[in-house]
Amino acid sequence: MRIGMLTGGGDCPGLNAVIRAVVRKGEGQYGHNIVGYRHGWRGVMKGESIDLSVGSTRGLLPRGGTILGTSRTNPFKSDDGPQRVKSTLARDRIEALIAIGGEDTLGVAHKLAADGVNVVGVPKTIDNDLSATDFTFGFHTAVQIATDAIDRLHTTAESHDRVMVVEVMGRHAGWIATYAGLAGGADVILVPEEPFDIEEVCDRITHRHQRGANFSIVVVAEGAVPVEGTMELQSGERDEFGHVRLGGIGTRLAEEIEERTGFEARTTQLGHVLRGGSPTAYDRVIATRFGVEAIDAVHEGDYGVMVALRGTEVVRVPIEEGVERLKTVDRKLYDTAAVFFG
Ligand code: F6P
Repeated sequence: MRIGMLTGGGDCPGLNAVIRAVVRKGEGQYGHNIVGYRHGWRGVMKGESIDLSVGSTRGLLPRGGTILGTSRTNPFKSDDGPQRVKSTLARDRIEALIAIGGEDTLGVAHKLAADGVNVVGVPKTIDNDLSATDFTFGFHTAVQIATDAIDRLHTTAESHDRVMVVEVMGRHAGWIATYAGLAGGADVILVPEEPFDIEEVCDRITHRHQRGANFSIVVVAEGAVPVEGTMELQSGERDEFGHVRLGGIGTRLAEEIEERTGFEARTTQLGHVLRGGSPTAYDRVIATRFGVEAIDAVHEGDYGVMVALRGTEVVRVPIEEGVERLKTVDRKLYDTAAVFFG
């Protein structure tokens, strides 16, 4: 059997571990041929592929990024996009496709599955905002990098009596901010799920400093927004899935905090650093388990499904369940983090 595979959306630690696992079991145990499409859906539309083999995928387990390349191309943005995808698959004699990606990539996979393409999805995103899976790989690595950064920023915060604002990724959901803030001992955590009141943030910091603290750490997700009309924000350009390019809320926040409280404030925008480098052991393990489950699903002809982590088990769920709504931060978890605010 000839099986295609692609990685779409933002790169993420663990993508290469999935690729390796699919090939190792697909070719090594089942004897299938695995073809990798370059740069997500763009490569399928353009017919750009490379043959993958056990030999060519050796050494990938700890390597960050994706050897296939990735893009945010959406085939449904052009009239002939879906047809071009199908033509490439027919030309390359591909019987099934493994799509590794987040809400956008898997959203496309879901539509193509409804249109008769044999697809299996693998959920990926550092944001951890895909439904139907407890965790996506990449998230744990991002949290670890952010926590290490917060630990280091404590040094400057304490030495200079400063408010350090740490901006992390998290477009629609504040999972990274909440986990890293909790792990790093943040004094304020701001997430997209709950618009913040800048006055309340400043009161909390002031109160903390009045009680003897000489510094504060504020962790903010890039998608966090102020309560309407309370603080001005810039808006950026949009990608093919309609998402605005974010980044910058941390700088605005530090300016406002400094002006309103009189405490010196600085910002660190962690951005793509969170997506870079080698996956943690935890992410290598889930990525590998996801890859093995995905190739098993293809081998069994179980299509239209996405592999998912439920508790400690890797299971299969309809792709639709993963993409129908975003998984936002659990209230109870946020409340636990909030115990340590101020
Ligand atoms: O979707 C994952 C993510 O890392 C988001 O947290 C972030 O907003 C976005 O990707 C950034 O995308 P890009 O690398 O295309 O700017």
